[in-house]
Amino acid sequence: MQHALDLTVSAAAPLGGEIILPGDKSLSHRAALFAALAEGTSTIDRFLVSGVTRAMLNVLTACGVEWHIEGSRLSVCGKGLRGFTPPKEALGCGNSATTIRMLAGALAASGTPCVLDGSTGLRKRPMNRITDPLRDMGVPISSPNGCAPLTLAARAADAPLRAMDYTLPVASAQVKSCLILAALAADGVTTLHEPGPSRDHTERMLSAMGADIRTNKPHTIRIAPLARPLAPLKLELPGDISSAAFLLVAAALVPGSSIRIRDVGLNPTRTGILDVLSQMGADIRIENRHDILGEPVGDIRLTAAPLKAVCVSGETVVRMIDEFPIFAIAACFAHGASEVRDAEELRYKETDRISVMCGELKKLGVRLEERRDGFTIYGGTLTGGECEAHGDHRLAMSLALAGLASPDPVTVRHAEILNESFPDFVPLIRALGATVRESVDTKR
Ligand code: S3P
Repeated sequence: MQHALDLTVSAAAPLGGEIILPGDKSLSHRAALFAALAEGTSTIDRFLVSGVTRAMLNVLTACGVEWHIEGSRLSVCGKGLRGFTPPKEALGCGNSATTIRMLAGALAASGTPCVLDGSTGLRKRPMNRITDPLRDMGVPISSPNGCAPLTLAARAADAPLRAMDYTLPVASAQVKSCLILAALAADGVTTLHEPGPSRDHTERMLSAMGADIRTNKPHTIRIAPLARPLAPLKLELPGDISSAAFLLVAAALVPGSSIRIRDVGLNPTRTGILDVLSQMGADIRIENRHDILGEPVGDIRLTAAPLKAVCVSGETVVRMIDEFPIFAIAACFAHGASEVRDAEELRYKETDRISVMCGELKKLGVRLEERRDGFTIYGGTLTGGECEAHGDHRLAMSLALAGLASPDPVTVRHAEILNESFPDFVPLIRALGATVRESVDTKR
């Protein structure tokens, strides 16, 4: 069991230094799962070892996949697209929506009977966005009230799924990835249309492994059934831009700061936060650009400058979908009123990130207005105080960083949830010069 952790962050001297982050969470999930679907042994360096990726690895074990981890090097013995063994018990996906949604697609392709389940929090998240289209493809999948647990019934190993032409109701990489994986076992070419530019790591990685996946028009993906086994992976993952975002905003909040983060993934479907921070006035430069298996990578250098308010809407929302908690903190210290629109999807994340974030910021003194699809934050009103992480890793880290620039310190209760995605968060912000007090309660 994890002990309860309260984090207190207080005003800091300028932050500085150069750091390397753990591997990207989205890419770590994909690399582990796709390596299991390949034939042969994959080696993945700089794999993110955290709560949510452990959930993925444990499920793979339960499906008969052998893997080994040493430091941050993961080796996986691939079983092929139809090689999973039916698990004896329900597969626990913990808090990870990426795990449950991508696995549903992979297990549908392999025809493996199983039950996919997760934490109380995961059981509240919408699964009909994958179960409805999977059923259209002929997958025997059921779920109570459109939520986990998901039950997949057995399907003959040689019976293909039905190819389809499908428009996703929301731009979601998890849904898209689930359907792409199922489409690898379909009887023809599947075409998916997306309302916006969700992250395309699945398309890039599976193509590099030999799958025939094409994006001819913007947001339209064509997936051919797998003609030959996926080739194993040999790569070092780039750092996670969503984790980098916490450190970048931390440095942007404290005048005189200047930091450099090396080897960060810069896939354009993920870099909305860099555009927005630049628009707000932070001086951001990209150096040492290169490529890792079709993914753009580079070093990010940020020098603090006074922040001004900004409005975020439209396609930028999808390109920074995980960064709104930390963006909200930047907005709290910007000059003027910042607005977020077109972001109702935030209500379906680890928490309802609009209402929970607004509620916690109010506790810290922030003047704001909440709307169905976003919020307005009036900069310069955050005073400090105590708030709660609500089982949301990104909320925990974002709220804590508010303490770097607030008149009074900020304490976040139940911040241990940050281990789900970024176990190195505290040592890394300390390495940059932040003052963080940890209070561990072994009884809570
Ligand atoms: C992810 C996609 C996003 C994101 C999540 C990771 C992925 O979810 O919020 O943290 O790895 O595909 P949606 O695809 O549901 O927007």
